Amino acid sequence: MRLPEPRTPGSYRVALVCLGNICRSPMAHVVLESRLAEAGLDDRVEVSSSGTGGWHVGNPMDRRAAATLSSAGYDPSRHRAQQYDATWPEAYDLVLVMDESNLADVGGRTDRIGLFRDHDPEDPGGEVPDPYYGGADGFEEVLAMVERTSDAIVTALERALGRHA
Ligand code: 4NP
Repeated sequence: MRLPEPRTPGSYRVALVCLGNICRSPMAHVVLESRLAEAGLDDRVEVSSSGTGGWHVGNPMDRRAAATLSSAGYDPSRHRAQQYDATWPEAYDLVLVMDESNLADVGGRTDRIGLFRDHDPEDPGGEVPDPYYGGADGFEEVLAMVERTSDAIVTALERALGRHA
């Protein structure tokens, strides 16, 4: 899926948004940054994550989210929750939210705002379900969605940044 043109040629800023910023968008943040580093794009693409709610601001990731990431070889330790800022759609190149409720909270779809899973290569257009009130399976499911979707986003970023035709 094609991404919007970067506001500044040669670099790209992606904001990942969920409700609490302790489960889904932090997992997506860690995985996407890891994939960007593997692709050599970490110096050109800036990723942030945030929650539309402010309850967990300053807190580390949910321990179940962190454990799921650690088991899969990622480092969840640097995350601290922050709250989404309504001015970001004007500053970021792309705002990707986890579910339809998040989409409504950020003011709806635009050319730069959409669902993270719009880029899911297996099953595009769905939600990343909130695992907060469920069991460990929910976190594994989120990780699988986030890994395959992050791979597709990196490919799309390579194209948006002119790495590919
Ligand atoms: P997240 O999950 O949006 O994936 O971070 C949640 C975390 C906390 C809450 C809701 C969702 N909460 O209501 O505290």
